[in-house]
Amino acid sequence: MSSGLLLAFACLGVLSQRVRVQGGQLRTEVGRSDKLSLPGFDNLTAGYNKFLRPNFGGAPVQIALTLDIASISSISESNMDYTATIYLRQRWTDPRLVFEGNKSFTLDARLVEFLWVPDTYIVESKKSFLHEVTVGNRLVRLFSNGTVLYALRITTTVTCNMDLSKYPMDTQTCKLQLESWGYDGSDVEFTWLRGNDSVRGLENLRLAQYTVQRYFTSVATSQQETGNYTRLVLQFELRRNVLYFILETYVPSTFLVVLSWVSFWISLDSVPARTCIGVTTVLSMTTLMIGSRTSLPNTNCFIKAIDVYLGICFSFVFGALVEYAVAHYSSLQQVAAKDRGAEKEVEEVNITNIINSSISSFKGKISFASIEISGDNIDYSDLTMKASDKFKVIFREKVGRIADCFTIRNPSNVDRYSKLLFPLIFMLANVFYWAYYMYF
Ligand SMILES: *[C@@H]1O[C@H](CO)[C@@H](O)[C@H](O)[C@H]1NC(C)=O
Ligand SMILES: *[C@@H]1O[C@H](CO)[C@@H](O)[C@H](O)[C@H]1NC(C)=O
Ligand SMILES: *[C@@H]1O[C@H](CO)[C@@H](O)[C@H](O)[C@H]1NC(C)=O
Ligand SMILES: *[C@@H]1O[C@H](CO)[C@@H](O)[C@H](O)[C@H]1NC(C)=O
Ligand SMILES: *[C@@H]1O[C@H](CO)[C@@H](O)[C@H](O)[C@H]1NC(C)=O
Repeated sequence: MSSGLLLAFACLGVLSQRVRVQGGQLRTEVGRSDKLSLPGFDNLTAGYNKFLRPNFGGAPVQIALTLDIASISSISESNMDYTATIYLRQRWTDPRLVFEGNKSFTLDARLVEFLWVPDTYIVESKKSFLHEVTVGNRLVRLFSNGTVLYALRITTTVTCNMDLSKYPMDTQTCKLQLESWGYDGSDVEFTWLRGNDSVRGLENLRLAQYTVQRYFTSVATSQQETGNYTRLVLQFELRRNVLYFILETYVPSTFLVVLSWVSFWISLDSVPARTCIGVTTVLSMTTLMIGSRTSLPNTNCFIKAIDVYLGICFSFVFGALVEYAVAHYSSLQQVAAKDRGAEKEVEEVNITNIINSSISSFKGKISFASIEISGDNIDYSDLTMKASDKFKVIFREKVGRIADCFTIRNPSNVDRYSKLLFPLIFMLANVFYWAYYMYF
């Protein structure tokens, strides 16, 4: 057994150290010479070359991976990436490292330098680093049957393309992909050691804005100019927690819309009260909109779900303000009309009446003018003037008719209808909004 282990260590090319096993314990002696050859193990050291993969020239090496996700520290919408700390464990069998016995031995991480290890890299990573405190966070374990376990602790920032059009009701799918950098499929084959169970730690993650909904592993092939590589893919779905946004944005904006309706219950005459409510709600909505924008800076200018909702709320708040302007204006007109023809009609005076009366007064003017012309018999320029006047009258009549369609007969009705229509339409808009973004 001791000779087997010694063989194994000789393979590692531990140049300056002599390793001896006594009673199952490893003891290293600082070598007296830096000679490359250890007595008795020439043959194996000669056979091991860390620059050549196991089964060199033969069947591909099977590398089985498992992952532990220790943490996902940040998921950035503006950079479209996430930062995760992972334990990456790779297992492969190197027939050159077989030694006698049942035991496994954990080696100093620095001895990795003397071993062949796979050139795994993380696809689409922006930057990664290996933790170095207090020593490089690496582990090498040798099994007697030649299996090597190589574990690393890596922190990496990986690109994750996000579609934010449903933000904050969105679900993002991010990937962690592992591939060999140089060895293509004929040299190295990656597999997940235990299928979907190869990845651990994702279900226990506590993320600021997301919960991990599900994850699964798969093996893909990436075709590149240099060959076909096997690629291990871990996909995980992150669902954003909407509750925060509901409390932060949706509830306040809904309340602002409701607040703007208060104005419908205040009499038309109290101008300061109603304009105050209108303007205040509009300004508060603007502030909310700006606030929601600053929480996601630099994202593309596409319209997110939250923008749509804030837009709807803003239109309603603005609509309430405009409603007051319309109601107040028509009430002013009504008062004016009342002043003009008050004694004639006790019943309601409407704008058609005003227009009709004005038209009839115009007609009177025309007839009066034509009488004048017939009296003088000369003034043609005056006649043409009257013709243009006639056109004006017809035009005004037309406009009057069109305006008549939009005329409010009773200004207090504006408020009465608004009290009903604004909440109804807002509720409908909400139903459509939530249905669309939750289920489609
Ligand atoms: C090493 O190889 C030489 C010949 O190259 C052989 O004579 C010797 O027995 C071998 N030693 C072992 C331990 O296999
Ligand atoms: C390996 O372990 C088994 C039991 O775990 C034992 O029976 C066997 O003798 C061991 N083999 C060697 C070579 O030590
Ligand atoms: C080598 O031994 C380890 C530990 O006993 C075991 O997990 C692994 O499957 C073995 N490898 C092979 C190729 O038999
Ligand atoms: C892993 O999970 C996915 C999705 O649930 C499933 O499609 C796939 O077949 C699973 N793979 C294995 C090896 O179980
Ligand atoms: C990669 O795979 C494709 C399709 O499977 C094949 O056409 C191509 O020849 C392969 N390339 C290499 C370098 O093996």
